[in-house]
Amino acid sequence: MRRDPLTFLASELDTLRQQGLYRPLRVLQTAQAARISCDGQSVVNLSSNNYLGLTTHPRLRAMAVEALDRYGVGSGSVRTIAGTMEIHMELERRLAAFKQTEAVVVFQSGFTANAGTVSSILTKGDVVISDELNHASIIDGCRLSRAEIKVFPHRDVDAARAIVCGLPADQRKLIISDGVFSMDGDLGALPALCALAEEFGGIMMVDDAHASGVFGRNGRGTIDHFQLHGRVDIQVGTLSKAMGALGGYVAGNRALIDFLHHRARPFLFSTSHPPSVAATCIAAIDVLEQEPTLIDRLWENTTFFKSGLQALGFDTGLSQSPITPVIVGEASLAARLSDRLFAEGVFAQSIGFPTVPHGKARVRTIVTATHTREELQFALETFGRVGRELGIID
Ligand SMILES: Cc1ncc(COP(=O)(O)O)c(C=O)c1O
Repeated sequence: MRRDPLTFLASELDTLRQQGLYRPLRVLQTAQAARISCDGQSVVNLSSNNYLGLTTHPRLRAMAVEALDRYGVGSGSVRTIAGTMEIHMELERRLAAFKQTEAVVVFQSGFTANAGTVSSILTKGDVVISDELNHASIIDGCRLSRAEIKVFPHRDVDAARAIVCGLPADQRKLIISDGVFSMDGDLGALPALCALAEEFGGIMMVDDAHASGVFGRNGRGTIDHFQLHGRVDIQVGTLSKAMGALGGYVAGNRALIDFLHHRARPFLFSTSHPPSVAATCIAAIDVLEQEPTLIDRLWENTTFFKSGLQALGFDTGLSQSPITPVIVGEASLAARLSDRLFAEGVFAQSIGFPTVPHGKARVRTIVTATHTREELQFALETFGRVGRELGIID
């Protein structure tokens, strides 16, 4: 009989189990919402990126159904062959107007937008100057590009400057940061990094996945929040989080977008969005423009919940956004906290190495615009009770 050549994977999984780091997938039986049924249990959901509750918004649902009826379920091709429909073009026009840039190209996800862009605009001999906590999709894009990768400590612009000063003046440089860091919820040092890019003729790129729909006027992102229009060459956003559906996009000048049409591998080699998803995303832009009160509610809930966790004595790090980590240190303790919270009716996932550094394991919480005060109060009471039980707070 043939010996299974994959047994080494099973032993790696056993190691994870022994370390208390094995996490089975949790499965939702309901739509993604503030309260869900998950693994058969009704829980207050603090684990989604559904910041504005748009996954179930009536306007998005209606536009999706209309597009489904009109265009069918799939696009049937990659964008460059037969997979570009008028509705894809309309979404890109709407996004460009919303972001106040010349043009936009939509990718299948925020991940492919980052990885596809960095890997196509840079090549061997170029250099990337990257914040150490940038998203995995940026890191993968950097590796694929074969450019030299120089990492600076988180938000340390002096260190980034020291790196840039040591580089040849004529070497092509990309300075890149998340707008909102996904595990800590703090903001990138964008104004200072823009100044650095301008001083040394570098390309400035921001991944605004967690800022889209959350920061800036009507959710235009951190570039709008910091008033950096015209100073960031490449803006990446996602349609998969606050926008409620799926996808990523790159906003910039016409030449950048035309170049990506010709060179970005996910654009060239992977099928485009189903038309219903494109229609859903257009509806999400309508909602951002017409219902900014949803964003106000998100921030009210964020302030209430974050200050509640802090008053209980939890370490919430340096968060400046609706992403509020509850940092506990050891990964096994974070996993126990998450499991106990779940048993008590609150879903907040634990995050450990390699997603966050060793010793910085946490339970990550994200409130949404659609959580009620009662749900958030219940979650705070549960955090307090379980946190005391596990000796995390007094
Ligand atoms: C900072 C950041 N960038 C990019 C992405 C990828 O976005 P998407 O989920 O649309 O692929 C994520 C999502 O996890 C993220 O947190």
